[in-house]
Amino acid sequence: MHSPAAKKDGFWGSVAKVTDWLNTRIKNIDIFDEHYQNEAKTNPFYALGPIFYLVWFITMATGLILIMWYIPSKAVAFDSILDIQTKVPWGNLMRGVHKYGADAMIIAATMRVFRMFLNADYKPGKELNIAIGLVMLLLSMYSGLSGYLLIWNQRAFWATKVFATFPTYMDQFPVMGDYYEPLVKSLHLGWNTAEVLLGAGGSITQETITRFFSLHLAFSLIPLILVEIYFYNNNYKRIPLNWLKRIVVSMMLVITAIVLPAAQGRRSDPDVTPLPILSDWYFLGLYQMYKYLEPVVATEITMVIPISVILLPFLDTYISGPGEKALMKRPFILMMTIMGGLTWIIFSLLIIANIANIHSDPPFWRAFMYLLIDVGIIWQLVLLWQQSDMKEKAKGVSACVVMGLIGATQAFWGWVFYYMAKTEMFMSPLSQAGTYLLCRPFMGKDAQATEDLIQALVPKGAQMPYNTDFIVAVQTRWLPKVQNGEALLNQLKEIQTHKSPIDFIYQLIPTFNNDQPMYKGMMDFMISNKWAWDYVTFQNRMTKGVEAHYPLPVPEVDWWWMIAGAITTVAAIVVGIECQKAKALIPAKPVPQAPAAPAAKPAAPATPVAKTEAAPETQATEAPKVDAPKEAPKADSSEEKKD
Ligand code: HEM
Repeated sequence: MHSPAAKKDGFWGSVAKVTDWLNTRIKNIDIFDEHYQNEAKTNPFYALGPIFYLVWFITMATGLILIMWYIPSKAVAFDSILDIQTKVPWGNLMRGVHKYGADAMIIAATMRVFRMFLNADYKPGKELNIAIGLVMLLLSMYSGLSGYLLIWNQRAFWATKVFATFPTYMDQFPVMGDYYEPLVKSLHLGWNTAEVLLGAGGSITQETITRFFSLHLAFSLIPLILVEIYFYNNNYKRIPLNWLKRIVVSMMLVITAIVLPAAQGRRSDPDVTPLPILSDWYFLGLYQMYKYLEPVVATEITMVIPISVILLPFLDTYISGPGEKALMKRPFILMMTIMGGLTWIIFSLLIIANIANIHSDPPFWRAFMYLLIDVGIIWQLVLLWQQSDMKEKAKGVSACVVMGLIGATQAFWGWVFYYMAKTEMFMSPLSQAGTYLLCRPFMGKDAQATEDLIQALVPKGAQMPYNTDFIVAVQTRWLPKVQNGEALLNQLKEIQTHKSPIDFIYQLIPTFNNDQPMYKGMMDFMISNKWAWDYVTFQNRMTKGVEAHYPLPVPEVDWWWMIAGAITTVAAIVVGIECQKAKALIPAKPVPQAPAAPAAKPAAPATPVAKTEAAPETQATEAPKVDAPKEAPKADSSEEKKD
């Protein structure tokens, strides 16, 4: 039901509609599949929520027993685990059940997220459930990561050491990172995150083990309080599984712990690097991705993946309608799910078998990933094309726009990728070179003069320090070796003071430098921040014979997905036009019969005829915005039907 305020027009009416929308989704939240208790009796996939709760409970219980003997100290952590294994009665079993309980949590949470996607459990009006499921998965993974280090063995120590470096790459993100240091003060987001997680110095010390131990407990105990409040407020049953099922799940953990006891490994040695460095199994896919990509890009993707997972249900609702749950009618989401699942499995297998080739594999990975998405989109478009119900088809216009935009984004990245492959310049320098190119017309003669000076001052193929002002970098690195270098640099400094018609934009950017708090103008910004140098490098690398080996060839497999993005966009436009045409073909509603005019007033029919003629016109052009759900939602269905 819409609240009375939501029926109002204007600003407050819109606010009330948004609040209603959000309230419905919050009411529909399912932390452990509470709304699927009936389905769970016959279908184990709907019991994944209660199973997750049960194994979480077992893991917490065994963890609380383990902390009686475990000592979170760099010097004796490993020995305390040895004692648990050998001296504590049932200690070995307790450790095993804790470890496999953690693994079972991750398996259950992962399968649950996949089930939600495949069964459209986020429809109608339950989109936030995916976000909740994902938070559960991530918390379990981070609990596992923090617990893994507690053993303080060689494998765990080195895996954590590698992971600890990942947040620091955030400092190389454009804008929020240190990229423009020292001119633009940065948030030091990466370094600060590493310090908070690992302790002062950002390396693995006693502080890290203390911090991880505290986080390990907090990741369970804080959510436990929230979950208990949730159960209390909603009067839900905690584990809606009969005792037989509970015993079966618990015995599976006990038997696995007996058959495959938790490994102890060798004591950690900071001086000896094990090869290969392997994390616990659920992070292996991510490890492989970091091997394939530039670490900065991999860190960016690591942040983009959960955001995409949270947004996908909304996208699917938009594309296939709020009531469509049949998997074969949602091929876009089907292919996305297959792509995500297969990538994770294949990456994990590649790293376990140690057979990946970081130079030749990535083009195949890119093609596989993008092509599966394209297959999903084109399949979805075919369904729309074949739709015989004109009313339904007409609704597909907005879906075609969304799918066209996805294809166009892919085509755009294909275009950017072409230049990245040719020049080996990554996103930030390439986008900076592109922005310089766009601003070049405002530079007049200064543009060519700047580029010539940069060519003369910096040797071809030189590596530029990423967080230093360009003038400082030239002065400290190359100036002594350049003939007439001082005079050339002075000319460049002089150009920095030149005016351009769009200086006012650049003069708004702070430098956080006491002597010069703002940029003097565009030339100053472009030279100091190396955007001019990026452009020169790009030009050099795209011109044959200037820099050795450049331009590089684009791998053949990459052409597939680069072209497929454009084809998908065109297909979406064609189907979109077809759907638009369908609007005109929507059959008119039967014209209501005018009431028979009373015999005494023969002139009356004139007005009703005029009204009924106008009615079909309105019907044909105004298709309803959203589908009515085919299946009534379990909670607050009346709201959704109106949505
Ligand atoms: C109150 C809750 C918890 C407590 C008190 C606790 C305590 C402990 C302790 C003391 C250890 C080190 C001993 C050992 O490795 O055998 C440990 C390890 C570990 N914990 Fe927990 N834990 C809790 C919850 C969890 C949860 C929810 C997970 C879930 C993912 C988890 C995953 C792990 C893992 C993977 C290890 C390493 C196990 C191994 O490989 O031997 N713990 N935990």
